Amino acid sequence: MSEITFLPHNKKIKVKPGVTLLEASRRARIAISARCGGNAACLLCKVKVDNPSALVPLTENEKTKLSHDQISDNIRLACQTRILNKKVTVSIPESPLSKVVQAHLRNEMDQGI
Ligand code: FES
Repeated sequence: MSEITFLPHNKKIKVKPGVTLLEASRRARIAISARCGGNAACLLCKVKVDNPSALVPLTENEKTKLSHDQISDNIRLACQTRILNKKVTVSIPESPLSKVVQAHLRNEMDQGI
């Protein structure tokens, strides 16, 4: 199993290798902004990872859509990035939209949905 820690929530989740960071975040009920259905079009799902070797290499979509500075800074598109059988920490930038979605997910959890 792979282990992902999402920051700033400090929430850990174990998933099978091959799961995207976006899929894992949803399973963990962590909000990552995403408006294109995971098609590498909206670029809202950018996250920073601490251990790039825990992830599949950059996809062609990421190579064309992320800047060299972003790639050097270990920024990945959560919808395109699949985890290997390792541990990784994923930092999600705060955004007003993610705060709203996170509150909605927390509300669903409280209601047992
Ligand atoms: S969800 Fe739109 S680029 Fe990742």
